[in-house]
Amino acid sequence: MSTALCEGVWRCTFGAAENASPVRFFGKYDAAALEDGGALLPFKHEHITWRLTQRGCVIELPMKNDEDFYGFGLQFHSINHRGRRRFMKVNSDPVTDTGESHAPVPFYVSSAGYGVLVDTFRYVTFFLGTNGAKGSSKNIAKPVKVHEEFSEQALYALKQARNERRVLIETPNCKGVDLYFFEGPSMLDAVRRYNLFSGGGCLPPLWGLGNWYRAYGGSDQQHVLKMAEDFRRDSIPVDVIGLEPGWHSHSYSCTYAWNKSLFPEPDALLGTLKQQNYHVNLWEHVFVHPLSELYGQLESSAGDYEVWGGLVPDLADKKAGDIFSEFHGKNFIDHGVSGFKADECDNSDFNKSNWSFPDLSSFPSGLDGEQMHSALGMLYQRTIEKAFRDRGLRTLGQVRSSWALAAGSPFVLYSDLYDHRQFIRALVNSGFSGLLWSPEVRSCKDTEDFIRRLQSVVFSPQSLLNCWRIPNPPWYQVDIEKNLAGERMDESGEITAIAASLLKLRMKLLPYLYTAFRRYHTEGLPPVRALVLDYPKDGRTHSIDDQYILGDSLLVAPVFWGQNSRTVFLPEGDWYDFWTHEKINGGRAISYDAPLDRIPVFIKSGSILPLAEPVQYVDAETLFSMTIFCFGVGGKNFTLYEDDGTSLAYEEGKYNTVVLSAGASGGNSGKGAVSRTGTEKPRYNIREWKYIV
Ligand code: GAL
Repeated sequence: MSTALCEGVWRCTFGAAENASPVRFFGKYDAAALEDGGALLPFKHEHITWRLTQRGCVIELPMKNDEDFYGFGLQFHSINHRGRRRFMKVNSDPVTDTGESHAPVPFYVSSAGYGVLVDTFRYVTFFLGTNGAKGSSKNIAKPVKVHEEFSEQALYALKQARNERRVLIETPNCKGVDLYFFEGPSMLDAVRRYNLFSGGGCLPPLWGLGNWYRAYGGSDQQHVLKMAEDFRRDSIPVDVIGLEPGWHSHSYSCTYAWNKSLFPEPDALLGTLKQQNYHVNLWEHVFVHPLSELYGQLESSAGDYEVWGGLVPDLADKKAGDIFSEFHGKNFIDHGVSGFKADECDNSDFNKSNWSFPDLSSFPSGLDGEQMHSALGMLYQRTIEKAFRDRGLRTLGQVRSSWALAAGSPFVLYSDLYDHRQFIRALVNSGFSGLLWSPEVRSCKDTEDFIRRLQSVVFSPQSLLNCWRIPNPPWYQVDIEKNLAGERMDESGEITAIAASLLKLRMKLLPYLYTAFRRYHTEGLPPVRALVLDYPKDGRTHSIDDQYILGDSLLVAPVFWGQNSRTVFLPEGDWYDFWTHEKINGGRAISYDAPLDRIPVFIKSGSILPLAEPVQYVDAETLFSMTIFCFGVGGKNFTLYEDDGTSLAYEEGKYNTVVLSAGASGGNSGKGAVSRTGTEKPRYNIREWKYIV
């Protein structure tokens, strides 16, 4: 860990903290002691109390009765956690609102303008104002007026606490813990400090922001090649092709070796796909099958229980991590593979018997099963990323579990859950805790469901179709049974055309999104944000969990199956309709008609939105032909980010910035100014300026 101090981040140590913790494992910075600073926090060191109990460590923090709490990782069921208990346990099947998730993160931000990280891999529980201390209600207790107040809400409304409440944090099975405090003054500042403290958000390779298509799990080499050819022939833009478990000779647990009867010539497959400018992503999980070459090398550095008959390598042990990492480098990355889908690392021992290791497991590095469940997703991501970094390459992968300090990890979360509404809530929530999430499209109940989901996914961090159970592209047939039977419904080509236009729209957004990720990296600004982060002063934004800000200036309001209009809250200021460019006054909720080919998207007045001519894929030569839209009079500057898109050279300063200035006058024939700094090969050719006033 470097000794650099991270500005506005303060540490508080309670008792004897454990050696295994997110900051100790993944941290890049030290923080100074809270006693020595924290002027922007609404409370001081001495207002925090702690004690050890038989169960572990309990910390109490002050809170105001009207304080709202956000974060706790990838939450599907609620956004504002005031008055709730949040249980940070990695769970692959988070169907109820307990706080459990694929990626619970023991970090929250408060509407009072600060953030708190509990630096632990333990299953920590937060009580966010749920319980007052004994006696605290004595002086304010009033008899309930039964007739007036008899409703469930009135009976159970303890969350609207009237007496003094505290945030209670219980970290079990330990003798102490470190807390980190992140100053505001706003919630967004606290989130940004958290992301920067994590090392800054990840900068994915440019191709990673294109469209992803995961092929049918029963595919063979020929099927994959045919599909790849079809996409190019039909001008369906796809950058990444994913192979699902079938590519392994044994997949649950994994051999990490090609199934030669389905894929007889893997190098030829990878070579052909590369020529067609596809990137290949391989599915796997971390459990090592006895027939894998890795088994013997990892046997002495694994946990004491198997999963699916495979070893659980101890990735907290550097030697084991290096073996696992270099195996991937030599056998796959050096053969042209661009990334991995790190599946099943999300703890199912408590609802599916053999899907993970028990909490009582122990690992040679000293971690127990509870700690390993929390740490595994992050350890797995870092191990895989290392193999790419060692080769000077970037990657973007998928992962089904994460924990604290994940912002810098180039992995996007996904789930086997599939409720579209919950997927959007998870997307909104992901930005509070340094996570990336894809509301992936799989099989759908009908065309409408397919298009609504595809609309959301192209406006998300990862535009992903996961067709692992669907042999043919879903735009030909969305119904899984009929698709399996080879039935084609889209004879007219209408659905294919809508799908293709959405996938092209994604490609138009690429320079805009890439720039948003650059800001994530350098400024900690999440590419996807809940409205409350950008508009905290307007109480009407505080519980909005079905709209979000994407990048600098887009407000996205997905539509769900069965709707053809929806209410959209537009924060103060003027907004422009993305499709019609109609100007709409904000500071109010509007009703928006959303026919099937339209997802409500708005641009904030005063913004510059750079849109590219869609390309089929991104490669080293891609030069985007750009139209620069300036919305509203006196558009501000927008700084496009430009680099080689694949290597780590940007870390050495090899990148350009392209400042687009609309100028105050604008007008339909107006041209803005472009100023480029840096000597890298240009990626953007600014073709046209359009002023929308
Ligand atoms: C699941 C994963 C799916 C798919 C499947 C293959 O665990 O969430 O996306 O990859 O495994 O078995």
